[in-house]
Amino acid sequence: MVKRWAVFSITFFFIYFLFLIDWNPYINHHDTYKITKSTSHSKTIRIINRHQTKYKLNCFNGSHTKTCPKDDSLVHAFHQDHQHSSSSSSSFTCPEYFRWIHEDLKPWNNTGITREMMERGLNISQLRISIIKGKAYVEVYGGSYQTRDLYTVWGIVQLLRLYPGRVPDLELLFETGDATVLDKQQFRRLTPPPIFSYCGQKDSLDIVFPDWSYWGWAETAIKPWEKVLKDIKESSKKIKWKDRIPYAFWKGNSYLSYARRTLRTCNVTDEQDWNTRVYSVNWNNETLQGFKNTKLEDQCTHRYKIYVEGISWSVSEKYILACDSMTMFIKPTYYDFFSRSLVPYKHFWPISNKSICEDIKYAVDWGNAHPEKAKAIGREGTRFVEENVKMMFVYDYMLHLLIEYAKLLRFEPTIHPDAVEVCSENLACPKGGLWKKFMVDSMVKSPSHTPPCTMFSPYDKQ
Ligand SMILES: *[C@@H]1O[C@H](CO)[C@@H](O)[C@H](O)[C@H]1NC(C)=O
Ligand SMILES: *[C@@H]1O[C@H](CO)[C@@H](O)[C@H](O)[C@H]1NC(C)=O
Ligand SMILES: *[C@@H]1O[C@H](CO)[C@@H](O)[C@H](O)[C@H]1NC(C)=O
Ligand SMILES: *[C@@H]1O[C@H](CO)[C@@H](O)[C@H](O)[C@H]1NC(C)=O
Ligand SMILES: *[C@@H]1O[C@H](CO)[C@@H](O)[C@H](O)[C@H]1NC(C)=O
Ligand SMILES: *[C@@H]1O[C@H](CO)[C@@H](O)[C@H](O)[C@H]1NC(C)=O
Repeated sequence: MVKRWAVFSITFFFIYFLFLIDWNPYINHHDTYKITKSTSHSKTIRIINRHQTKYKLNCFNGSHTKTCPKDDSLVHAFHQDHQHSSSSSSSFTCPEYFRWIHEDLKPWNNTGITREMMERGLNISQLRISIIKGKAYVEVYGGSYQTRDLYTVWGIVQLLRLYPGRVPDLELLFETGDATVLDKQQFRRLTPPPIFSYCGQKDSLDIVFPDWSYWGWAETAIKPWEKVLKDIKESSKKIKWKDRIPYAFWKGNSYLSYARRTLRTCNVTDEQDWNTRVYSVNWNNETLQGFKNTKLEDQCTHRYKIYVEGISWSVSEKYILACDSMTMFIKPTYYDFFSRSLVPYKHFWPISNKSICEDIKYAVDWGNAHPEKAKAIGREGTRFVEENVKMMFVYDYMLHLLIEYAKLLRFEPTIHPDAVEVCSENLACPKGGLWKKFMVDSMVKSPSHTPPCTMFSPYDKQ
């Protein structure tokens, strides 16, 4: 597995030297214990000062680092947190969309998940990930597009660093393609194998998990989400809503779906103006030109932005919503982990997939006639991603999903013979270029100072 991923880094070796990498070979951990007196109970309590556990990227054998460091601050942090805080919970509740975790796991609620069920999913997934005592082991038996698999595993490894001691032992299967793989119809009698995917739809039973782009999408030079969100926010401040171009904007690969091809026909011509401005991206050309025309932070120039699916859900959704422009959703078929909680006319304006040009034209005219209302929908959409989908909640979602999922397992999770232990070192150290930069940039540098948000029970009503 490590070998296959290494191919990408060689291809892009040429930009490697551009990036500053932390090569410090020493792990720096000095957890300290403070003894403080509690005034109310005059009892001595011990506080673990977890602020001071610092993880470094310990490339102990440079780009040949193929194994995980032995003296690992993660192991240290794992044991501490396991003893002291794995049951403590936070005073703030999770965002509303965390409820979907229960929904996604429902197919196994009565039966649990047996090893036999898992094995049936091996031919429709690409990765098997085991988490045992806070460490991750991965077996790759199918090909993934670009480096989705690498970045997905990277995200899980970072979760283990953020919440040491909290992720239970488990095994899971991951499907890294665009489409969903578990068809509801097919599993009316048989309990489906549990498969994690990046998206779901009303006719599927896939368990939805955050996609790779939260840690960066190197092939398209899209930075890790935390950084993109900051950049978009910065640049979005520069043009006030009323000063933005009063049309609906979309930019992307036009040929991936029927809806996108239709959207192209809504572009302005000498004869017709549907209030729509469409810009096609050819990623091959952009790669050669250094992606200067596809910077997400330069795309908050219009009052309205369009979200349209490609082959399935699109990672662009969160970037589009973040612009402070009113987002129009061309009726999507798929959902990702948070989009089921977006509310029409509050966070976005819905566009029918049957009359795309007409609906967009109508919505733009409406918005320009009701600027305060249109602006407010834009603001609400942006607030949703800024507050509810910030990186800390992405990790919290992963954590709570894995905790609930692990409760369903009816077998002892194990490390399979073909699995390789993965850690930040053997994932990032052999890489170069943007692949490495995005991993270093999105690396969790210390355990969370706060417990994760408090999860709803399935019975809580809103
Ligand atoms: C470091 O990498 C070299 C080259 O692959 C290898 O020969 C050597 O055994 C490695 N050393 C360690 C400590 O892993
Ligand atoms: C799971 O099953 C239990 C009974 O075994 C039931 O009380 C609970 O509501 C179910 N949860 C969901 C999310 O359906
Ligand atoms: C996967 O294997 C199961 C048997 O374990 C079989 O029923 C199913 O048709 C296979 N699916 C695919 C897509 O090959
Ligand atoms: C849509 O129209 C704009 C403005 O005329 C033009 O710049 C752009 O290239 C057109 N897009 C496509 C995909 O033809
Ligand atoms: C991409 O490059 C090809 C030629 O290499 C050119 O024909 C095409 O118009 C370009 N596409 C875009 C969207 O710029
Ligand atoms: C519109 O979306 C529905 C499902 O949401 C789909 O069944 C239908 O084929 C779509 N129609 C077009 C024209 O894309």
